[in-house]
Amino acid sequence: MFEHKDALSALNGKLPLQDKIGYVHGLLKDRFDFIDRISVALYDPKTDLLKTFVHSSDDELPLVLYSAKLAGSESMQEILKIGRPRVVNDLDIFNNVPAEHTRRIAAIQYKSSYTMPMFQNGEFCGFLFFNSHQKNVFDEKVLHYLDMVGHLVSLLVIHEMSTTRSLYAIVKTAANITLHRDVETGAYPDRMSNYARLIAKEVAKKYQLNDELVEHIFLFSPLHDIGKIGISDSILLKPGKLTDSEFDIMKTHASKGGEIIDMMLKNLGLDEFPHAAILRNIALYHHEAINGSGYNGLMDEDIPIEAKIVAVSDVFDALTSARPYKEAWSNDRAFIFLQSMAGTKFDIDCVAALVNCRDEVEAIQKRFQEDHLG
Ligand code: C2E
Ligand code: SIN
Ligand code: SIN
Ligand code: FE
Repeated sequence: MFEHKDALSALNGKLPLQDKIGYVHGLLKDRFDFIDRISVALYDPKTDLLKTFVHSSDDELPLVLYSAKLAGSESMQEILKIGRPRVVNDLDIFNNVPAEHTRRIAAIQYKSSYTMPMFQNGEFCGFLFFNSHQKNVFDEKVLHYLDMVGHLVSLLVIHEMSTTRSLYAIVKTAANITLHRDVETGAYPDRMSNYARLIAKEVAKKYQLNDELVEHIFLFSPLHDIGKIGISDSILLKPGKLTDSEFDIMKTHASKGGEIIDMMLKNLGLDEFPHAAILRNIALYHHEAINGSGYNGLMDEDIPIEAKIVAVSDVFDALTSARPYKEAWSNDRAFIFLQSMAGTKFDIDCVAALVNCRDEVEAIQKRFQEDHLG
């Protein structure tokens, strides 16, 4: 009798997806050492963006924190139209193609690629790439094996994303049922998500945020105020200034949010979900201040980065939108306000990220304009 060891047993653990993909890549290299990169890009149908999501590669400059419109790449659209994976055994053929993604791939010297479209319930949800620095490596025998590995990787990705989406949907539904307007209304969640993604990308290097974390910050950021469903309408919708005691009640929305999230995670059996902490931290700590003067008195280094990012996105959006108790401010006024409190209330880098990306901020505002509820 020989003792068989499950080569894939690491996948049983609660590793982040990035590590699981790295593990699969390691095993794949034992057999085909010329596979230099596995990577996954997610497709967001709302914006037509393909976003880098997870990768495993030894390159110093992997393609990360990057997004491009699917409409901008004919070769990628072609794959979808045909509905089959694509083998390119000499990526030099793309040398004259203007698509930025293709150029960036070429810039890191890959010579061949195998690209599989990923589907969830029949809907296209992203691409999976296998790349090699060598030409002509993808023959029938290799591809037969890669198809199996590819489907495994795609199941890992889809499993994680559907967990994330269910979590998002459940929290959002709770807000909808209680008619809580901030989480519910049209353009608000998209603005919030996109400000958060913009900031997260800018501070990614400093805080070692990879695409997987950025994507979860993007998805969960609009849910930060879920605890407001526990605040009575007489306070929540009060047309004027809150009294001190009303504001004290209002402030409990952060801890209430944390409790609601914890309850949901527990009921769903998702306490161990690797990214649950992002959702929880966002709800619980989005009103902390760098100097410790926030709701729970956490100091700078104890405030999770996702909460710092959401704090700046939240206040910027609150200032530039009308509220029952205030008019909308101009972007200039909001930027000046944020800068005046950078380093005391807000994280300096998060504020700089927003202020320095004015064009992108305005593009987000234009794309996701205020809805009828104001
Ligand atoms: P919100 O309206 O979503 O505002 C989120 C945060 O944006 C506020 O957190 C605050 O940091 C900032 N912000 C919003 N409007 C203004 C403003 O006019 N001036 C300044 N300097 N900052 C602003 P904060 O203060 O902890 O408030 C949390 C929540 O409490 C607010 O969420 C809102 O729902 C409620 N709230 C705060 N002040 C009032 C008020 O005077 N009247 C009413 N009805 N609600 C209030
Ligand atoms: C997406 O972000 O749209 C794709 C995620 C997935 O379903 O795998
Ligand atoms: C492209 O076709 O636009 C990119 C090349 C690849 O990654 O396969
Ligand atoms: Fe809040």
